[in-house]
Amino acid sequence: MSIPLLDLNRQYDSIKDEIRTAIDEVLESQYFIMGDEVKEFEKEVGAYCQANYSYGCASGSDALLLALMAIDLHPGDYVLTSPFTFFATAGAISRIGGIPVFLDIEKDSFNLDPEQVRSFMEGVHPVYKKLNPERERIKAIILVHLYGQMADMDPIMNIAKEYNLTVVEDAAQAIGAEYRGRRAGSIGDFGCFSFFPSKNLGAFGDAGLVTVKDQKLADKLDILRLHGAKPKYHHSLVGINSRLDTIQAAVLSVKLKYLDAWSERRREIAHRYNRLFEQAGVVGELGDCSESCTEMGGSECSLNPNKIIIPKETTGSEENNGRHIYHQYTIRSKKRDQIAQTLSEHTIGHSVYYPVSLHEQECFAYLGYQPQDCPVSHCASKQAISIPIFPELKDEEIEKVVGVVSEVVKG
Ligand SMILES: Cc1ncc(COP(=O)(O)O)c(C=O)c1O
Repeated sequence: MSIPLLDLNRQYDSIKDEIRTAIDEVLESQYFIMGDEVKEFEKEVGAYCQANYSYGCASGSDALLLALMAIDLHPGDYVLTSPFTFFATAGAISRIGGIPVFLDIEKDSFNLDPEQVRSFMEGVHPVYKKLNPERERIKAIILVHLYGQMADMDPIMNIAKEYNLTVVEDAAQAIGAEYRGRRAGSIGDFGCFSFFPSKNLGAFGDAGLVTVKDQKLADKLDILRLHGAKPKYHHSLVGINSRLDTIQAAVLSVKLKYLDAWSERRREIAHRYNRLFEQAGVVGELGDCSESCTEMGGSECSLNPNKIIIPKETTGSEENNGRHIYHQYTIRSKKRDQIAQTLSEHTIGHSVYYPVSLHEQECFAYLGYQPQDCPVSHCASKQAISIPIFPELKDEEIEKVVGVVSEVVKG
């Protein structure tokens, strides 16, 4: 039995007719750029995300770039962010000349740690001392809702308010996720979404969206994605060409109707994985990473090599009125590479998100970060591995994956 990490064919088979009808309508109209379907989808998805304003664009990467362009981020400005994310989060900052300030993540959620943000803003964090930033050039925070669980928004919003920082939610992996009843993309100043095909709401190519809280910024973003022109050929700003294709909007509108059911099935699968790993006796505990990490000079890593850590619902738990939508089901283990190899031998899909923490990437070497500047992120990059999760995954497939992983871990 080979089990893919993600099988989009199974999803397509279940909604093929509807999708084809929606695409056909666009083909008949021949209105491929900013057709009616784009406005309709923006409205529907904006309501779904509890957003004030929402604008389609060409990708999640462009969504981040557009948000930073809308606040006039200047070369040399600082943006605080997580080092444990897809490259685009930091790439957007650097692309416009900004300086990414990498601060460590929480070990349980893999999301930006509000304590790290506070200590940086109070000027006592070692990274602050290293970068020695001009205070008025610290402009924004991009936090990431990794794997489908939202970052701890309230403390971060409080710090942002205190220091007048813009908050951008990188919600590329978290459409429909909730924090204390509020949806991803509705809390910060901007929410940036990706509809890359493998995302929970995936287009048939690249596509993205920005949600915006403030009307003035929303109006600005609306024209920045159209080369800064309003009306056409009259440019008050220098923008970019980043639109959501009409065909993609038509596909996404069909899929949006199923998103909640798909997310619920993802949650069910995640909880089933949890139960089965518990029953297999391989679930361990993670102690205080910063104290015990051997690579960082500690005496002993708290993670037992014969155990794994299963995903923890922090902000995404029901008790916290949250909702983790499990874009990924990510475990951690000291035997990560062995697990990966054995899964490959059994033709079971898996992936490491992400093998190199961004503060250790070659392109950011000029900033002088050391691995120990973000030890939790460094360690996560050595131990994390994502295993198959998608709504159509079958129960017997889940059991098979658990069996293979548990055997490696126990052995
Ligand atoms: C956390 C995160 N940010 C940004 C992006 C960029 O999105 P896109 O691939 O649509 O440009 C992605 C998607 O890959 C992502 O996972």
